[in-house]
Amino acid sequence: MGCTVIGSGRAVPALRVTNDDMSHIVDTDDEWISQRTGIKSRRIALSETATDLGEAAARRAMGEGNSNGNGSSDSSGWTLQHTDPRTIDLIICMTITPDTTIPSQAALLKERLGAMHAIAFDLNAACSGCTYGITVAQSMMLASTITPGTSNPIRRALVIGVERLSRIVNWTDRSTCVLFGDGAGAVMLEWNEQKRGVRSSFLKNTDDVDRTLNRASMFDLSTFPFGTGPAVDPPLNTSTSQHNPFITMEGQKVFKFATAAIIEAIEAVLERAGVSLDEVSCIVPHQANERIIRYAARKLNVAEDLFQISIAETANTSAASALMALADAYQAGRIHTGDTVIMVGFGGGLTSGAVLFEA
Ligand code: ACO
Repeated sequence: MGCTVIGSGRAVPALRVTNDDMSHIVDTDDEWISQRTGIKSRRIALSETATDLGEAAARRAMGEGNSNGNGSSDSSGWTLQHTDPRTIDLIICMTITPDTTIPSQAALLKERLGAMHAIAFDLNAACSGCTYGITVAQSMMLASTITPGTSNPIRRALVIGVERLSRIVNWTDRSTCVLFGDGAGAVMLEWNEQKRGVRSSFLKNTDDVDRTLNRASMFDLSTFPFGTGPAVDPPLNTSTSQHNPFITMEGQKVFKFATAAIIEAIEAVLERAGVSLDEVSCIVPHQANERIIRYAARKLNVAEDLFQISIAETANTSAASALMALADAYQAGRIHTGDTVIMVGFGGGLTSGAVLFEA
């Protein structure tokens, strides 16, 4: 028995912005961006909200053809079966760019989807979001099965990652604005008495960087300081706000962290599941940089095409990225029933994680 994937979907906004387009905005060019990252274009949400994108991806994962939402997004997906929204028990939405903080993005999506019986909440683990979201959903399913009556019964869970990073990118900073895009990905999960589904999980908030850098530096490697902390004006202050709400990243240091974190997380889920790498059919990583993925393939001594690489047309969509890539892998026919699949993420926090599941 286990928590199984029965549907996968993705959605992107209509506007495609190429590297050449970016060269009209900042001092950059297609060659630099392509060679350093593998990115060719990204989608940018002009009219689509996070709710529009999340809804479109979720409906695909639920087996519905097109979004009923207000956006003009392109969506696609794969499903084993159609899911009636009224049978969904749980919605977890991973995002750092919700339409609103209250109501949560998950609550907005619950309302839009008509998932009237679902409990819904947001989860922030930055770019590692999907591994955290799937692990939490699986754990809640497991808990309600092993000790029924002690918690909400969860048999169907919708795990959605959605980002509009274009809203928090500094469009004058060429070292970050070329890297990010907007989009949404979703998986429909169902408890199954016969199948194993998720077999292992590994989550981490790193302490490795602590050993070489102080704690403040660790957080400075990748930040979006838009909370109610010190960056925000104190209460009862009528002066103009000075805080900087843009995402920042120390690329090279994050690159170093990412290459170590991706290997560690993959090896951990393999060990926990008692599975060897040659039994794995597909690895679906967070899409931050094609060079990170190629490095991981070399280090693990496996062919690069074991990895799903979707970054060329999406750029880095943070919490949405691996879920979008999973939908690509299903759609491309790379994942079949019984296959062993690993999803792996790394990002701000600094967080990392992986889940290994039987399709
Ligand atoms: N176009 C042209 N030149 C540029 C651009 C650009 N868009 N951006 C930076 N440069 C220049 C820099 O100014 C620098 O010039 P200099 O040598 O004259 O000073 C030069 O290019 C090299 O810059 P680096 O930052 O050293 O380039 P690097 O090879 O490290 O690549 C990158 C940068 C792509 C960001 C890489 O470090 C990376 O991918 N890091 C990891 C990102 C990641 O994994 N993020 C995921 C987790 S966090 C999150 O997603 C929020």
